[in-house]
Amino acid sequence: MAKLWAGRTDGKTEKLADDFNSSIRFDQRMAQEDIRGSMAHATMLAVQGILPQNDCDAILAGLQTIADDLKSGALTIDETSEDIHMFIEQVLTDRIGDAGKRLHTARSRNDQVALDLRLYLKGEIETLLTYLRTLLSTLCRRAEEEKATILPGYTHLQRAQPITFGHYLMAYAMMLLRDGDRLIDTRKRMDVSPIGCCALAGTTYPTDRQYEAKLLGFSKIAPNSLDGVSDRDFCVELLSALSILMMHLSRFCEELILYSGWEFRFIELSDAYTTGSSIMPQKKNADMAELIRGKTGRVYGDLMALLTVLKGLPLAYNKDLQEDKESVFDAVDTVKACLPVLNGMLDTFTVKRENMFAAAQTGFLNATDLADYLVRKGLPFRSAYKIAGQAVALCTQKQCVLDTLPLNDYKKLSDLFEEDLYPAISLEQCVKTRISEGGTAVGSVEKQIALVRTELTDLK
Ligand code: ARG
Repeated sequence: MAKLWAGRTDGKTEKLADDFNSSIRFDQRMAQEDIRGSMAHATMLAVQGILPQNDCDAILAGLQTIADDLKSGALTIDETSEDIHMFIEQVLTDRIGDAGKRLHTARSRNDQVALDLRLYLKGEIETLLTYLRTLLSTLCRRAEEEKATILPGYTHLQRAQPITFGHYLMAYAMMLLRDGDRLIDTRKRMDVSPIGCCALAGTTYPTDRQYEAKLLGFSKIAPNSLDGVSDRDFCVELLSALSILMMHLSRFCEELILYSGWEFRFIELSDAYTTGSSIMPQKKNADMAELIRGKTGRVYGDLMALLTVLKGLPLAYNKDLQEDKESVFDAVDTVKACLPVLNGMLDTFTVKRENMFAAAQTGFLNATDLADYLVRKGLPFRSAYKIAGQAVALCTQKQCVLDTLPLNDYKKLSDLFEEDLYPAISLEQCVKTRISEGGTAVGSVEKQIALVRTELTDLK
C-alpha cells in the first residue's frame, strides 16, 4: 500500500523494514474503535467549522460502510498496511475521494492510537467484569451448598484449625471482588481522552477537545498534550490489576490441583475439565487448572515487558510505544480465556465431604479449642496453651486424638478438665463457635456470601 506519509521521503522502504515497522497484525482488533474515533473527530471538526459539513457527511457515511464491511467480512484488512489507522484512512479515501484526505486535520496518529487503545481497553474491562461477576455468583452458590462442610484449614500447609468449605470458597471471592474493584479503578484513569493532543504540542486549529471527548463517552480530557500522547499508565495499571488477578487464580488452581489429587482427595473435578494421559490409563489430570497457573507467568511477563518498554522513554511519542499493544492484548486475552474455564471447573466439581471431614479429624485441629476450654474455666490463655500442648504430646505417644484421650489422662494435666471437654472440642463445635465477624461459622459465612452477592452487582 502507498505510504500516506510519503512526502519528505519517497516512501519507498525495504519490505523487510515495512514488515518490521507494521503493527496491523495486532492493532487491527481496534478497527471499530478507530472508526468511532474518526467519526467523532469529523463531527467535531464540522461543528467547529474546520471541515465543511458535506465533507463531514461523506466521511461519516464512508466510515459507516467500512465499519459494516469489516463486520460482514466484505472488506478484508490489507496486512501490508502500516497500521489500522493508515488502512482505514486509505480505504476511506479510496471510497469517498478528497473528503477522506481532510479527516486527519488537527489529529496525529499519536493521539489517535492512544485514543483507540483507551476505547478498546475500556470495552475489554466491561467483558472482564462480566466474567468476574459470573465467577463470583458461582462461588457464592457453591459456598452456600458447602457452608457447613468441615475440612482442615491449613497454615504452613500443616493442619491448623477446622474450617468450612464455604468459608474457604469465600476467601477467593473476596480476592476476586478486589480484582474487580481494581479494574474499575483502572478504568477511571483510562477514562481520559487524549484526542486533540495531536502529534505532541496541540494544534493551531480551533478544535473542541471537550466536545470530542464527550462524543466518545470520556469524562475528562488529558490536560497536557505531551503527557496525553505518551501516557501508557492505564496499560500498566491494567496489566498490574490482571497480574494480581492471575496470582489469585493461580493460588486457587494450585489448591484445586492439590485437593483433587489422591493425597488430599477433597474434591473431584468433573471429567469435562480434566484430561487423561497418553500412557497411564488411570490418570485424570487437572490440566485446565495447571494451565491457568502456568499462564499467570505470561501475564506477569506482559507487565514486565511494558514497564521495561516505558522505562527511560523520552517525551513524547516514540515508536517503542507500539510495543504496548501486544503485551496488553495478550494479558487481556489470557485472562479472558482463564476466567470462564475456572468458572466451569468450579461449577462442576464434586465435593468429597467425607474425606474432608476425615482429614479434619486427625492433626489435632481442635487443640486451640481445648486451650479455649480451659480459658473458659478461668485459666490464662498462655497456661491453657501449654496444657493443651501437653495433651497433644500425650496423644502422639498413645497414638490417639484429643477426642479419644481418656478423661483420667486429661485430669493428670489439669483438674479443670471435666467430661464436658469432649463436646467442647468436637469439630462441629469448633466450627459452630467461630462466630466472630469473618470467621468460619455457618452464620458468619452466610454473611460473607450476602456481602459478595451485593457487592458483585457493583462490578460494572
Ligand atoms: N502504529 C503506531 C503505534 O501503535 C501508531 C502511531 C504511529 N505514530 C508515529 N508517529 N509513527 O504506536
